[in-house]
Amino acid sequence: MGQKVKIFDTTLRDGEQVPGCQLNKDDKLNVAAALDKLGVDIIEAGFPISSPADFDSVKSIAQQTENASVCGLTRAIEKDIDVAAEAIKPAKRPRIHTGIGTSDLHVFSKLRTTKEDVLERGVAAVKYAKKYVEDVEFYAEDAGRTDNEFLARVVEAVIKAGATVINIPDTTGYCLPNQFGAKIKYLKENVTGIDKVDIAAHCHNDLGLATANAISAVQNGATQVECTINGIGERAGNTSLEEVVMIIKQHEDMPFYTGVDTTMLTAVSHLVEDKMNMPVQANKAIVGANAFAHSSGIHQDGMLKNRQNYEIIDPALVGASGSSIVLTARSGRHALNYRIEKIGIKLNKQQLDEVYEQFLLMADEISLVGDDELKKLVADYVVTNINS
Ligand code: KIV
Ligand code: ZN
Repeated sequence: MGQKVKIFDTTLRDGEQVPGCQLNKDDKLNVAAALDKLGVDIIEAGFPISSPADFDSVKSIAQQTENASVCGLTRAIEKDIDVAAEAIKPAKRPRIHTGIGTSDLHVFSKLRTTKEDVLERGVAAVKYAKKYVEDVEFYAEDAGRTDNEFLARVVEAVIKAGATVINIPDTTGYCLPNQFGAKIKYLKENVTGIDKVDIAAHCHNDLGLATANAISAVQNGATQVECTINGIGERAGNTSLEEVVMIIKQHEDMPFYTGVDTTMLTAVSHLVEDKMNMPVQANKAIVGANAFAHSSGIHQDGMLKNRQNYEIIDPALVGASGSSIVLTARSGRHALNYRIEKIGIKLNKQQLDEVYEQFLLMADEISLVGDDELKKLVADYVVTNINS
Protein backbone atom coordinates (compact mmCIF):
# COMPACT_ATOMS: atom_id res chain seq x y z
CA MET A 1 0.00 0.00 0.00
CA GLY A 2 2.77 2.43 0.85
CA GLN A 3 2.32 6.04 1.92
CA LYS A 4 -1.12 7.62 2.11
CA VAL A 5 -1.51 10.82 0.09
CA LYS A 6 -4.14 13.04 1.68
CA ILE A 7 -6.61 14.62 -0.71
CA PHE A 8 -7.48 18.23 0.13
CA ASP A 9 -10.41 19.32 -1.99
CA THR A 10 -10.73 23.04 -2.69
CA THR A 11 -13.59 22.93 -5.23
CA LEU A 12 -15.70 25.05 -2.87
CA ARG A 13 -12.96 27.65 -2.33
CA ASP A 14 -10.42 27.91 -5.21
CA GLY A 15 -12.98 26.35 -7.58
CA GLU A 16 -15.81 28.55 -6.48
CA GLN A 17 -13.74 31.70 -7.09
CA VAL A 18 -14.24 31.19 -10.84
CA PRO A 19 -16.65 33.72 -12.37
CA GLY A 20 -20.00 32.05 -12.94
CA CYS A 21 -19.26 29.10 -10.63
CA GLN A 22 -20.76 30.61 -7.47
CA LEU A 23 -23.09 28.24 -5.67
CA ASN A 24 -25.98 28.85 -3.33
CA LYS A 25 -25.85 27.33 0.13
CA ASP A 26 -27.90 24.23 -0.70
CA ASP A 27 -25.71 23.41 -3.67
CA LYS A 28 -22.56 23.88 -1.56
CA LEU A 29 -23.95 21.52 1.05
CA ASN A 30 -24.73 18.96 -1.67
CA VAL A 31 -21.25 19.17 -3.15
CA ALA A 32 -19.65 18.99 0.31
CA ALA A 33 -21.71 15.90 1.21
CA ALA A 34 -20.63 14.23 -2.04
CA LEU A 35 -16.98 15.06 -1.33
CA ASP A 36 -17.23 13.60 2.15
CA LYS A 37 -18.74 10.40 0.74
CA LEU A 38 -16.09 10.33 -1.98
CA GLY A 39 -13.51 10.02 0.79
CA VAL A 40 -11.48 13.22 0.53
CA ASP A 41 -9.47 13.93 3.68
CA ILE A 42 -10.02 17.69 3.86
CA ILE A 43 -12.74 19.90 2.44
CA GLU A 44 -11.75 23.55 2.05
CA ALA A 45 -15.26 24.90 2.43
CA GLY A 46 -14.64 28.57 1.70
CA PHE A 47 -13.06 31.87 2.71
CA PRO A 48 -15.33 32.84 5.62
CA ILE A 49 -14.40 36.53 5.88
CA SER A 50 -15.14 37.08 2.20
CA SER A 51 -18.93 37.38 2.66
CA PRO A 52 -21.69 36.60 5.17
CA ALA A 53 -23.06 33.97 2.77
CA ASP A 54 -19.70 32.22 2.55
CA PHE A 55 -19.37 32.30 6.34
CA ASP A 56 -22.81 30.74 6.66
CA SER A 57 -22.05 28.01 4.12
CA VAL A 58 -18.73 27.11 5.75
CA LYS A 59 -20.48 26.86 9.11
CA SER A 60 -23.21 24.58 7.75
CA ILE A 61 -20.65 22.39 5.98
CA ALA A 62 -18.73 22.17 9.27
CA GLN A 63 -21.96 21.05 10.99
CA GLN A 64 -22.89 18.35 8.46
CA THR A 65 -19.51 16.81 7.59
CA GLU A 66 -19.01 13.37 9.08
CA ASN A 67 -15.52 12.29 8.11
CA ALA A 68 -13.38 14.90 6.40
CA SER A 69 -11.62 17.79 8.13
CA VAL A 70 -13.32 21.09 7.32
CA CYS A 71 -11.03 23.96 6.53
CA GLY A 72 -11.52 27.73 6.20
CA LEU A 73 -9.10 30.00 4.33
CA THR A 74 -7.70 33.21 5.82
CA ARG A 75 -5.07 35.80 5.09
CA ALA A 76 -2.43 36.35 7.79
CA ILE A 77 -4.80 38.77 9.50
CA GLU A 78 -6.29 38.34 12.97
CA LYS A 79 -9.81 39.35 11.95
CA ASP A 80 -9.81 36.75 9.10
CA ILE A 81 -8.68 34.10 11.57
CA ASP A 82 -11.33 35.07 14.16
CA VAL A 83 -14.08 34.75 11.55
CA ALA A 84 -12.77 31.49 10.08
CA ALA A 85 -12.44 29.99 13.57
CA GLU A 86 -16.07 30.82 14.29
CA ALA A 87 -17.24 29.33 10.98
CA ILE A 88 -15.42 26.00 11.37
CA LYS A 89 -16.15 25.67 15.10
CA PRO A 90 -18.89 23.02 14.68
CA ALA A 91 -16.61 20.72 12.67
CA LYS A 92 -15.52 17.38 14.07
CA ARG A 93 -12.08 18.07 12.60
CA PRO A 94 -11.61 21.82 12.16
CA ARG A 95 -8.64 23.31 10.30
CA ILE A 96 -7.56 26.92 9.71
CA HIS A 97 -5.62 27.60 6.49
CA THR A 98 -3.62 30.80 6.82
CA GLY A 99 -0.65 32.25 4.99
CA ILE A 100 1.09 35.02 3.12
CA GLY A 101 3.00 35.64 -0.13
CA THR A 102 6.70 34.78 0.00
CA SER A 103 8.08 35.38 -3.51
CA ASP A 104 10.00 38.60 -4.16
CA LEU A 105 7.13 39.73 -6.39
CA HIS A 106 4.56 39.19 -3.67
CA VAL A 107 6.75 40.62 -0.88
CA PHE A 108 7.87 43.75 -2.73
CA SER A 109 5.17 44.53 -5.29
CA LYS A 110 2.00 43.07 -3.74
CA LEU A 111 2.52 43.38 0.02
CA ARG A 112 5.09 46.22 -0.40
CA THR A 113 7.03 45.24 2.63
CA THR A 114 10.19 43.32 3.60
CA LYS A 115 10.98 39.62 3.78
CA GLU A 116 11.50 39.87 7.56
CA ASP A 117 8.04 41.38 7.95
CA VAL A 118 6.49 38.58 5.88
CA LEU A 119 8.22 35.98 8.02
CA GLU A 120 7.02 37.63 11.22
CA ARG A 121 3.45 37.99 9.93
CA GLY A 122 3.38 34.31 8.92
CA VAL A 123 4.58 33.19 12.33
CA ALA A 124 2.15 35.50 14.14
CA ALA A 125 -0.80 34.22 12.05
CA VAL A 126 0.01 30.59 12.84
CA LYS A 127 0.40 31.35 16.57
CA TYR A 128 -2.90 33.24 16.54
CA ALA A 129 -4.74 30.44 14.71
CA LYS A 130 -3.34 27.90 17.20
CA LYS A 131 -5.35 29.66 19.94
CA TYR A 132 -8.46 28.30 18.21
CA VAL A 133 -7.51 24.95 16.67
CA GLU A 134 -4.76 22.37 16.82
CA ASP A 135 -4.72 21.81 13.04
CA VAL A 136 -3.24 24.85 11.31
CA GLU A 137 -2.13 24.80 7.70
CA PHE A 138 0.24 27.51 6.47
CA TYR A 139 0.47 28.52 2.78
CA ALA A 140 3.46 30.32 1.33
CA GLU A 141 1.68 32.00 -1.56
CA ASP A 142 3.66 31.92 -4.84
CA ALA A 143 6.08 29.41 -3.31
CA GLY A 144 6.67 28.19 -6.87
CA ARG A 145 8.56 31.43 -7.59
CA THR A 146 10.01 31.88 -4.09
CA ASP A 147 13.73 31.30 -3.66
CA ASN A 148 14.26 28.05 -1.81
CA GLU A 149 16.46 29.49 0.92
CA PHE A 150 13.92 32.07 2.05
CA LEU A 151 11.08 29.58 1.65
CA ALA A 152 12.91 27.15 3.93
CA ARG A 153 13.40 29.88 6.57
CA VAL A 154 9.69 30.75 6.53
CA VAL A 155 8.62 27.10 6.62
CA GLU A 156 10.93 26.29 9.53
CA ALA A 157 9.66 29.30 11.49
CA VAL A 158 5.97 28.49 11.01
CA ILE A 159 6.53 24.84 11.94
CA LYS A 160 8.15 26.08 15.15
CA ALA A 161 5.07 28.28 15.68
CA GLY A 162 2.83 25.20 15.47
CA ALA A 163 1.82 24.68 11.84
CA THR A 164 0.73 21.08 11.21
CA VAL A 165 0.62 21.30 7.41
CA ILE A 166 2.87 23.29 5.08
CA ASN A 167 1.25 24.21 1.79
CA ILE A 168 3.60 24.94 -1.11
CA PRO A 169 1.47 26.60 -3.80
CA ASP A 170 2.62 27.08 -7.36
CA THR A 171 0.15 29.95 -7.41
CA THR A 172 0.84 31.04 -10.98
CA GLY A 173 1.38 27.57 -12.46
CA TYR A 174 4.93 28.50 -13.51
CA CYS A 175 7.07 25.59 -12.32
CA LEU A 176 8.21 22.61 -14.36
CA PRO A 177 7.64 19.21 -12.71
CA ASN A 178 11.35 18.65 -12.02
CA GLN A 179 11.68 22.15 -10.50
CA PHE A 180 8.63 21.74 -8.30
CA GLY A 181 9.73 18.29 -7.16
CA ALA A 182 13.20 19.66 -6.39
CA LYS A 183 11.64 22.41 -4.27
CA ILE A 184 9.83 19.86 -2.11
CA LYS A 185 13.03 17.79 -1.84
CA TYR A 186 14.99 20.90 -0.80
CA LEU A 187 12.52 21.58 2.00
CA LYS A 188 12.63 17.94 3.13
CA GLU A 189 16.41 18.14 3.32
CA ASN A 190 16.87 21.61 4.77
CA VAL A 191 14.04 22.36 7.20
CA THR A 192 14.25 21.27 10.82
CA GLY A 193 10.95 19.75 11.91
CA ILE A 194 9.65 19.08 8.38
CA ASP A 195 9.17 15.36 9.10
CA LYS A 196 6.56 16.17 11.77
CA VAL A 197 4.20 17.92 9.31
CA ASP A 198 2.38 17.19 6.08
CA ILE A 199 3.69 18.97 3.00
CA ALA A 200 0.96 19.95 0.53
CA ALA A 201 1.26 20.57 -3.20
CA HIS A 202 -1.20 23.23 -4.42
CA CYS A 203 -0.72 23.68 -8.15
CA HIS A 204 -2.33 25.81 -10.82
CA ASN A 205 -2.66 24.89 -14.46
CA ASP A 206 -1.48 27.99 -16.35
CA LEU A 207 0.96 25.90 -18.40
CA GLY A 208 -1.06 22.68 -18.25
CA LEU A 209 1.31 21.22 -15.63
CA ALA A 210 -0.79 21.26 -12.46
CA THR A 211 -1.25 17.50 -12.26
CA ALA A 212 2.31 16.70 -13.32
CA ASN A 213 3.66 19.13 -10.72
CA ALA A 214 1.49 17.67 -7.96
CA ILE A 215 2.65 14.14 -8.77
CA SER A 216 6.27 15.25 -8.89
CA ALA A 217 5.77 16.81 -5.45
CA VAL A 218 4.38 13.53 -4.10
CA GLN A 219 7.35 11.63 -5.53
CA ASN A 220 9.60 14.02 -3.63
CA GLY A 221 7.90 13.88 -0.26
CA ALA A 222 4.59 15.79 -0.38
CA THR A 223 1.91 13.93 1.59
CA GLN A 224 -1.09 16.08 0.66
CA VAL A 225 -2.39 17.19 -2.74
CA GLU A 226 -4.74 20.16 -3.08
CA CYS A 227 -7.09 19.82 -6.00
CA THR A 228 -10.56 20.40 -7.38
CA ILE A 229 -13.16 18.26 -9.11
CA ASN A 230 -12.78 18.62 -12.90
CA GLY A 231 -9.71 20.81 -12.25
CA ILE A 232 -11.82 23.96 -11.99
CA GLY A 233 -10.19 27.01 -10.40
CA GLU A 234 -8.69 30.43 -10.95
CA ARG A 235 -7.67 31.13 -14.56
CA ALA A 236 -6.67 27.79 -16.15
CA GLY A 237 -7.70 25.94 -13.01
CA ASN A 238 -6.18 23.79 -10.28
CA THR A 239 -4.82 20.26 -10.17
CA SER A 240 -7.66 17.93 -11.06
CA LEU A 241 -8.66 15.60 -8.22
CA GLU A 242 -9.73 12.74 -10.47
CA GLU A 243 -6.43 12.83 -12.36
CA VAL A 244 -4.25 12.71 -9.23
CA VAL A 245 -6.33 9.98 -7.64
CA MET A 246 -6.30 7.79 -10.75
CA ILE A 247 -2.60 8.31 -11.43
CA ILE A 248 -1.89 7.12 -7.90
CA LYS A 249 -4.31 4.20 -8.25
CA GLN A 250 -3.17 3.00 -11.68
CA HIS A 251 0.55 3.37 -11.05
CA GLU A 252 1.24 0.44 -8.81
CA ASP A 253 4.92 1.19 -9.43
CA MET A 254 4.51 4.21 -7.10
CA PRO A 255 4.22 3.39 -3.38
CA PHE A 256 1.19 5.63 -2.72
CA TYR A 257 -2.54 5.37 -2.15
CA THR A 258 -5.49 7.68 -1.40
CA GLY A 259 -8.71 7.13 0.54
CA VAL A 260 -10.93 8.13 -2.40
CA ASP A 261 -13.68 5.80 -3.63
CA THR A 262 -12.85 6.02 -7.32
CA THR A 263 -16.18 4.52 -8.41
CA MET A 264 -17.83 7.81 -7.41
CA LEU A 265 -15.60 10.04 -9.55
CA THR A 266 -17.87 10.26 -12.59
CA ALA A 267 -20.97 11.03 -10.53
CA VAL A 268 -19.23 13.73 -8.49
CA SER A 269 -17.76 15.22 -11.66
CA HIS A 270 -21.25 15.45 -13.17
CA LEU A 271 -22.61 17.00 -9.97
CA VAL A 272 -19.98 19.74 -9.98
CA GLU A 273 -20.33 20.29 -13.75
CA ASP A 274 -24.04 20.71 -13.34
CA LYS A 275 -24.15 22.80 -10.14
CA MET A 276 -21.27 25.06 -11.14
CA ASN A 277 -22.47 25.43 -14.70
CA MET A 278 -19.00 24.62 -15.94
CA PRO A 279 -19.05 22.06 -18.78
CA VAL A 280 -16.28 19.49 -18.80
CA GLN A 281 -14.38 19.31 -22.09
CA ALA A 282 -15.10 16.07 -23.99
CA ASN A 283 -11.44 15.02 -24.03
CA LYS A 284 -10.88 15.66 -20.29
CA ALA A 285 -8.90 12.83 -18.70
CA ILE A 286 -10.93 10.38 -16.58
CA VAL A 287 -14.32 12.18 -16.69
CA GLY A 288 -14.66 13.69 -20.20
CA ALA A 289 -17.40 12.34 -22.48
CA ASN A 290 -14.75 10.84 -24.78
CA ALA A 291 -12.48 9.45 -22.05
CA PHE A 292 -13.56 5.89 -22.95
CA ALA A 293 -14.77 6.43 -26.54
CA HIS A 294 -12.90 4.84 -29.44
CA SER A 295 -13.44 6.10 -32.96
CA SER A 296 -10.62 5.19 -35.34
CA GLY A 297 -10.67 1.83 -37.11
CA ILE A 298 -7.22 0.81 -35.86
CA HIS A 299 -8.08 1.54 -32.23
CA GLN A 300 -11.53 -0.05 -32.48
CA ASP A 301 -10.11 -3.26 -33.90
CA GLY A 302 -7.53 -3.39 -31.08
CA MET A 303 -10.16 -2.62 -28.44
CA LEU A 304 -12.49 -5.34 -29.67
CA LYS A 305 -9.67 -7.90 -29.54
CA ASN A 306 -8.56 -6.87 -26.05
CA ARG A 307 -9.76 -3.77 -24.18
CA GLN A 308 -6.32 -3.29 -22.64
CA ASN A 309 -4.82 -2.59 -26.07
CA TYR A 310 -6.27 0.91 -25.83
CA GLU A 311 -7.56 1.46 -22.28
CA ILE A 312 -5.46 1.77 -19.13
CA ILE A 313 -8.49 2.25 -16.87
CA ASP A 314 -11.55 0.02 -16.60
CA PRO A 315 -14.42 2.54 -16.92
CA ALA A 316 -16.24 0.79 -14.05
CA LEU A 317 -13.38 1.77 -11.76
CA VAL A 318 -14.35 5.45 -12.11
CA GLY A 319 -18.09 4.81 -12.26
CA ALA A 320 -18.34 5.51 -16.00
CA SER A 321 -21.01 3.66 -17.96
CA GLY A 322 -18.49 1.79 -20.10
CA SER A 323 -16.31 2.02 -23.17
CA SER A 324 -17.94 3.00 -26.42
CA ILE A 325 -17.20 2.21 -30.03
CA VAL A 326 -18.36 5.28 -31.95
CA LEU A 327 -19.01 5.12 -35.65
CA THR A 328 -17.41 7.77 -37.84
CA ALA A 329 -15.94 7.78 -41.33
CA ARG A 330 -12.67 6.66 -39.69
CA SER A 331 -14.24 3.47 -38.28
CA GLY A 332 -13.50 0.02 -39.68
CA ARG A 333 -15.54 -3.08 -40.57
CA HIS A 334 -14.83 -4.76 -37.23
CA ALA A 335 -16.39 -1.85 -35.33
CA LEU A 336 -19.32 -1.57 -37.71
CA ASN A 337 -20.08 -5.28 -37.36
CA TYR A 338 -19.81 -5.02 -33.55
CA ARG A 339 -22.35 -2.20 -33.47
CA ILE A 340 -24.69 -3.95 -35.94
CA GLU A 341 -24.66 -7.08 -33.78
CA LYS A 342 -25.40 -4.92 -30.73
CA ILE A 343 -28.67 -3.87 -32.34
CA GLY A 344 -29.51 -7.53 -32.97
CA ILE A 345 -28.65 -8.05 -36.63
CA LYS A 346 -26.24 -10.57 -38.03
CA LEU A 347 -24.73 -10.04 -41.48
CA ASN A 348 -22.59 -12.38 -43.52
CA LYS A 349 -19.23 -11.23 -44.83
CA GLN A 350 -20.51 -10.10 -48.22
CA GLN A 351 -23.43 -8.20 -46.69
CA LEU A 352 -21.08 -6.52 -44.24
CA ASP A 353 -18.77 -5.41 -47.06
CA GLU A 354 -21.70 -3.90 -48.90
CA VAL A 355 -23.19 -2.21 -45.84
CA TYR A 356 -19.75 -0.83 -45.05
CA GLU A 357 -19.69 1.02 -48.41
CA GLN A 358 -23.07 2.60 -47.65
CA PHE A 359 -21.99 3.37 -44.11
CA LEU A 360 -18.91 5.30 -45.28
CA LEU A 361 -21.02 7.48 -47.59
CA MET A 362 -23.38 8.22 -44.71
CA ALA A 363 -20.58 8.85 -42.19
CA ASP A 364 -18.86 11.30 -44.54
CA GLU A 365 -22.11 13.23 -44.63
CA ILE A 366 -23.31 13.17 -41.00
CA SER A 367 -19.98 12.52 -39.19
CA LEU A 368 -21.40 10.45 -36.31
CA VAL A 369 -23.60 7.43 -37.09
CA GLY A 370 -25.87 6.53 -34.19
CA ASP A 371 -28.05 3.46 -33.62
CA ASP A 372 -31.06 5.04 -35.33
CA GLU A 373 -29.16 5.75 -38.54
CA LEU A 374 -27.52 2.34 -38.34
CA LYS A 375 -30.90 0.59 -38.06
CA LYS A 376 -32.15 2.41 -41.14
CA LEU A 377 -29.02 1.64 -43.10
CA VAL A 378 -29.06 -2.03 -42.23
CA ALA A 379 -32.80 -2.58 -42.48
CA ASP A 380 -33.02 -1.03 -45.96
CA TYR A 381 -30.01 -2.86 -47.15
CA VAL A 382 -30.94 -6.30 -45.81
CA VAL A 383 -34.44 -6.01 -47.34
CA THR A 384 -32.96 -5.02 -50.70
CA ASN A 385 -30.52 -7.84 -50.50
CA ILE A 386 -33.09 -10.47 -49.59
CA ASN A 387 -35.44 -9.40 -52.38
CA SER A 388 -32.76 -9.24 -55.01
O1 KIV B 1 -2.98 29.44 -5.28
C1 KIV B 1 -2.75 29.81 -4.11
O2 KIV B 1 -1.66 30.28 -3.76
C2 KIV B 1 -3.85 29.70 -3.16
C3 KIV B 1 -3.53 29.94 -1.71
C4 KIV B 1 -4.51 30.86 -1.10
C5 KIV B 1 -3.43 28.65 -1.00
O3 KIV B 1 -4.95 29.36 -3.53
ZN1 ZN C 1 -4.86 28.36 -5.49
